[in-house]
Amino acid sequence: MNMLPDLFVQNIGQLVTVADASQKPKTFHRMDEIGIIKDGAVVIRDGYFIDIGTTRKLKKKYHRKDTKIIDAAGKVVLPGFVDCHTHTIFGGDRTGEFIQRIQGETYLEILKKGGGILSTVENTRKLKIQNLAELSRKHLDTMLLHGTTTVEIKSGYGLDMKSELKILKTIQYLQKTHPMDIVATFLGAHVIPPEYKHSPNSYVNLICNMLPKVKPYATFCDVFCDEGAFSAEQSERILKTAKASSFRLKIHTNEFKDIGGVSLAIQLNAISADHLDNIKQRDIVRLKKSNILCVLLPGVPFFLMKDTYAPARKMIENGVPVALATDFNPGTCPSGNMQMIITLACLKMGMTPAQAINATTINAAHAIGAAHRIGSIEVGKQADMIILDIQEYTQLPYYFSINHVKTTIKKGKIVVENMQLIDS
Ligand code: NIG
Ligand code: FE
Repeated sequence: MNMLPDLFVQNIGQLVTVADASQKPKTFHRMDEIGIIKDGAVVIRDGYFIDIGTTRKLKKKYHRKDTKIIDAAGKVVLPGFVDCHTHTIFGGDRTGEFIQRIQGETYLEILKKGGGILSTVENTRKLKIQNLAELSRKHLDTMLLHGTTTVEIKSGYGLDMKSELKILKTIQYLQKTHPMDIVATFLGAHVIPPEYKHSPNSYVNLICNMLPKVKPYATFCDVFCDEGAFSAEQSERILKTAKASSFRLKIHTNEFKDIGGVSLAIQLNAISADHLDNIKQRDIVRLKKSNILCVLLPGVPFFLMKDTYAPARKMIENGVPVALATDFNPGTCPSGNMQMIITLACLKMGMTPAQAINATTINAAHAIGAAHRIGSIEVGKQADMIILDIQEYTQLPYYFSINHVKTTIKKGKIVVENMQLIDS
């Protein structure tokens, strides 16, 4: 006797499972394999996939009088997107800066004048947890409506003990109250705050002292190692201290300049190196040997009006595991739409739609150490999936800037139906 399912989703035109028996991130030709089952069905119980196959086969096994059925009517199903790099908790926005940039000022010029990240820090420091949570919830809801079911969120707009803790506590509150899975990263090393402008190394000391206090709230520690932010030496000190306190490491690097962040990521065995828009062939080869996930964020050069996109094709040809994320933040990518990121990855970085789908699901799950639980549609994994109103997965990036997600299922529960959030 088969277990009675909680939910049976049938008549899926293309069930894109992304499944992969190997426990490792996908590389090389495996980036092009997305495990399509035609006329597929999935069976969900207690929040997990308990069976996957064709509708014909599974119908016989599981249909009972009272089975709850969703008919996908020939549409496409994907695993929920995993947005493995965001800065979702912030106050205010930067529309003024948007206009300045259109008129010719650069992102780094604005930052050097005390704007950019620092203006968001000012706006974030003013807010209470409850206000920050309200603002962030709205952003998370928008992401969920666009198919993201798991999100990584970094702190980094507080830059002092009290404000960084406030941001991490906001994340903790959202972890308890929002349907999405949220993983937290401490990014005290985002930029040097104004009060330490003349003594940046004292701020590095302060971050090292913050680490034990923020540990209960964050899994990862990240550093912005780039021009205008932290040097390789400062980043090394922070990341080494974090490693000693059992944080897993991430690094923002080579977004603007190559100042040695890739070497640091390799030396300290970071779980991911993110951005990499300005990376040399030599470092691509070194990254391959290290198996570090390269998290590429094409929304950033797009929004900053630059032509330097990370060389994704070259990375894939060299066997580097590539993931994609939005980098959702008020300065360099105020969009949390992973479908748009897939389109940009295809058009601006030469990734195929299949590669981009692997990069936004299973490889992105690896980039936050969660691939054993999420990122693909496989028996035993958490039932996170989206139904898109398209007939073939290639239509996702092709009909661009359209939200194709009709239904989102998170841990086996319908959280978006007919493009609307369901109140739980
Ligand atoms: O990932 N690079 C550093 N941090 C963000 C930008 C944050 C901001 O401009 O507010 C990024 O691009
Ligand atoms: Fe970022």
